[in-house]
Amino acid sequence: MRSPGEGVHVAVVGYGYWGSKHVRVLCSMPSVAVTVVDEHTGRLAEALSRHPGIRVAEHVHDVLDDVDAVVVATPPGSHAAVALAALDAGCHVLVEKPLTTTVPDAETLVDRARRADVRLMVGNTFEYNPAVARLREIVRSGVLGRILYIDTARLSLGRYQSDVNVVWDLAPHDISIVSYLLDEMPAATAVWAQRNIGRRHADIAYLRLSFERSRTQAFVHVSWLDPNKVRRVTVVGDRKMAVYNDLSDTERIRIYDAGVDSTTLDGSPEAHAMPVTYRTGDITSLAVPYSEPLLVQDQHFLSCVRTGETPRTPGSRGLDIVRVLATADDMGGSWPMVSGGFVPAPIAPGSATTPVAAS
Ligand SMILES: NC(=O)c1ccc[n+]([C@@H]2O[C@H](COP(=O)([O-])OP(=O)(O)OC[C@H]3O[C@@H](n4cnc5c(N)ncnc54)[C@H](O)[C@@H]3O)[C@@H](O)[C@H]2O)c1
Repeated sequence: MRSPGEGVHVAVVGYGYWGSKHVRVLCSMPSVAVTVVDEHTGRLAEALSRHPGIRVAEHVHDVLDDVDAVVVATPPGSHAAVALAALDAGCHVLVEKPLTTTVPDAETLVDRARRADVRLMVGNTFEYNPAVARLREIVRSGVLGRILYIDTARLSLGRYQSDVNVVWDLAPHDISIVSYLLDEMPAATAVWAQRNIGRRHADIAYLRLSFERSRTQAFVHVSWLDPNKVRRVTVVGDRKMAVYNDLSDTERIRIYDAGVDSTTLDGSPEAHAMPVTYRTGDITSLAVPYSEPLLVQDQHFLSCVRTGETPRTPGSRGLDIVRVLATADDMGGSWPMVSGGFVPAPIAPGSATTPVAAS
């Protein structure tokens, strides 16, 4: 165990869109030395011009003897190989979502970290987002009533990925958020996916996630082919409803005192009567103080490196999410044309190995 302020040397592997953000937040922390690894020298030159104090290298194997921890921010298909090399060198490892692109690879990482007694964490960034934590408090407080369903939308024009489809790219966020809100992993999933552009990957998809203990469903819509950028989670309860809009600066969470009551299900003989009555009341906007989720997440990772504490989002949580994604693939999510998921597929035994909210 180290003292809280003791120096830590971290290598960030992959200085692309997201790895560059890790480097920015890590460089802002005291007592943290950063080495950037990227196989493209142009990316290394860019990193050095922004952060003159860092070291750089082209291959992860060249730095493993010198660093305490590794952040893996390469494309998903290379996560397993890079993370395994780092774990085998005795480094603590934070892997971006999705943890890996296969269940066996994710199981290997979790097992190898346990044997090496190093911390393995998955970058479920939204679980470090104060607005998501607040929404979780609201769901758990019971103020919304029984959760009838959750709907999520993560849409925009791009960014098309080369090694995974839209489900593996975007749905990890929504599976992470929804299971965190409900404190439960889904027991079954169904997927409809379609490839519109290119020859390889589905670029729009709808998933249904079934939660047994909560007796509810989540509907996840992900798309690389939508004119509007949308990042929204709607939680519909039988008393109130909540909407989390991650793109709003001032009104991230709104609570709607609204609902619908059935009037005929209790045996009313009025065949032509309105089948429901509507309740509409106040709309409340909650003040949620902003902290950058990636900064909170990376601070937590370094705290785990220093203290030996188990991360809130350990590798086993990443494995549970990979199991859901792999089940969606088995239903055809990776196939080019529309795939039908009319009967939910149970997620393989051994899933939900990790308490969803460790804190
Ligand atoms: N948590 C989030 O909100 C979030 C957001 C975006 C992306 N991501 C994840 O971050 C990861 C990176 O995504 P991105 O959009 O930044 O990709 P990117 O393509 O922009 O960047 C990847 C970088 O990795 C480098 N690279 C690839 N293989 C390498 C290897 N073996 N060794 C060294 N360098 C290598 C490439 O040269 C490139 O610079 C993905 O896993 C993605 O899912 C997470």
